[in-house]
Amino acid sequence: MLRPKKEKKQKVKLTKEGIRKAKGIFRYLKPYAFIFSIGWIFLVLSTSVGLVFPLMMGQLLGANSMNSTEDAIRVISLENINQVALALFLLFAAQAVFSFFRVIIFTNVTENALRDIRKDAFSRLIYMPMDFFNRNKVGELTSRLASDIVQVQETLRTTIAEFFRQIVMIVGGIVFLMLISWKLSLIMLATVPVMAIVAVVFGKFIRRLAKVAQDETAKSNVVVEESLTGISNVKAFTNELFSIQRYTKIAEEIRRLNVKSGLWRGVFASFIIFCLFGAIVFIIWQGMLMTQGTNPEMSSKDFYTFIFYTIMMGASVGSLPELYASIQKAIGSTENLMDIIQTEGEKEIMSGTSRPVITGKVSFKNIFFHYPQRPDMPVLEGVNLDAEPNETIALVGSSGAGKSTIASLLLRYFETTSGEILFDGENIRDIDIEHLRSNMALVPQEVILFGGSVRENIAYGKPEASLEEIEEAARQANAYDFISSFPDGFETQVGDRGIQLSGGQKQRIAIARALLKNPTILILDEATSALDSESEKLVQDALEHLMKGRTSFVIAHRLSTIRNADRIFVIDQGKVAEQGKHDDLIALESGIYAGLINLQMRS
Ligand SMILES: Nc1ncnc2c1ncn2[C@@H]1O[C@H](COP(=O)(O)OP(=O)(O)OP(=O)(O)O)[C@@H](O)[C@H]1O
Ligand SMILES: [Mg+2]
Repeated sequence: MLRPKKEKKQKVKLTKEGIRKAKGIFRYLKPYAFIFSIGWIFLVLSTSVGLVFPLMMGQLLGANSMNSTEDAIRVISLENINQVALALFLLFAAQAVFSFFRVIIFTNVTENALRDIRKDAFSRLIYMPMDFFNRNKVGELTSRLASDIVQVQETLRTTIAEFFRQIVMIVGGIVFLMLISWKLSLIMLATVPVMAIVAVVFGKFIRRLAKVAQDETAKSNVVVEESLTGISNVKAFTNELFSIQRYTKIAEEIRRLNVKSGLWRGVFASFIIFCLFGAIVFIIWQGMLMTQGTNPEMSSKDFYTFIFYTIMMGASVGSLPELYASIQKAIGSTENLMDIIQTEGEKEIMSGTSRPVITGKVSFKNIFFHYPQRPDMPVLEGVNLDAEPNETIALVGSSGAGKSTIASLLLRYFETTSGEILFDGENIRDIDIEHLRSNMALVPQEVILFGGSVRENIAYGKPEASLEEIEEAARQANAYDFISSFPDGFETQVGDRGIQLSGGQKQRIAIARALLKNPTILILDEATSALDSESEKLVQDALEHLMKGRTSFVIAHRLSTIRNADRIFVIDQGKVAEQGKHDDLIALESGIYAGLINLQMRS
């Protein structure tokens, strides 16, 4: 299961479990293993070239010096400046070619793998049980998915290669240094890396101080925002002074924190100047000494080479912590993605393979239900209801009574806690979930249109429908006229980026969608938002078309719909409190239904 957000915010720690999960990513790299390994060959090549570069530079700079000593790498050393320069050019050319192919190949492999991960993660998400969406906020899910993918992308594309390169540079650098002069190497290794590490740790400490100051600044912004958006409260309560005091306190705290971090930054700068550069000067001094005398320990070419390797290694060591942190984050992100990909979807959880003919005969037998994440709050407590084929069933009850919940159970968004839901005598748990839902259509309370044309939106329940079928559905849903009045007709773009439709228009498109699907069972969660009487009439007509010839469960708010129902179930306190036809129920003195209707008549 996914980790809750709070935990995720904490510092990423590598755990065995996390790494094990993150290894799931290799499955996505496997299909591209061959091309990926070629990419690695280029990486090794370009890294090796990078390793030779300081050697060449050293030889070039030291080439005109008089000293020459036997040394382990004399073979590579070139006496002539022109030759060394040429060699350097060739080296860079090779480096350019290798890097080009390395980048291209790594990018390709990364993007291929990411496409597969994106696809799998999305398919997983879309097949998640409804409960998952109850527990996770959609906005959070999407932004997390996006940021996890970016993190993995960055790592696969560059961080891994970079990490590898730096490690090779450090190890290779040490080897070269040792070959040039083990004595100077030991002096260097005892100082520069130690200083570099201290500098990195110190730098981190300073960043943390800066972060604390930043957080405090953010807090102060909240105070400003709160006070200004709630300005009328501030003024009405003459609380200006209080607000100012609050703000002043924070402003003082910001000052204190920033001064503190400034102090440490000063210490840091002095430290760098004195210790790090001091260490470098010390090594140069020691190295210079070695190149002096009649029988110097080291040629000046080698000395220059040594300096270049030292600089290169220093840079590599310095970049490691950031790379390491980035890889750590990427492992966390990969773990998240793999979590999503490995979570069981509806199909695995809600097994059931039977595909009976569904005629619209439905019964609820003593249904108890609470939402999975709120076991302490029962919603349904022993609901019994029956529907025969082609009947119109109205569900009424006060807000929060559980009407929409009953609709969700019909669609098997959730499993009941106990009791049985039967379709033509077959338990809902034994029925294949896709088969079940393919026999149903839902017209929800709030219609949401997808980005696309009106035609595509109507065809949503039956993508293979012909244009004639779509137009016919629109006609029956009383939507044909307004759709045709648009300049682009059925090709008009709707949804977030398209034109805005009125509530009544959206509802009629949803009705057309349901008509086209032609389900055996219709679930209609009537909109509570009032329409003007003209579109009310159009929607009502459309609904009557829609309900004809199928079992309809209508969560009804409109008196007109309820009146025409074959049977009305009044839901109250998790049970069916009353049932029957309108006339029977209205006759019940002090009945719930009579009360509801009375209320509606009055308003
Ligand atoms: N996804 C959910 N998770 C947890 N509790 C829920 C969820 N949806 C509804 N509930 C709770 O279940 C109870 C019944 O809600 P339901 O949506 O079925 O009411 P309703 O009869 O459709 O009300 P309305 O007429 O306002 O639409 C309410 O107390 C509500 O707080
Ligand atoms: Mg509802």
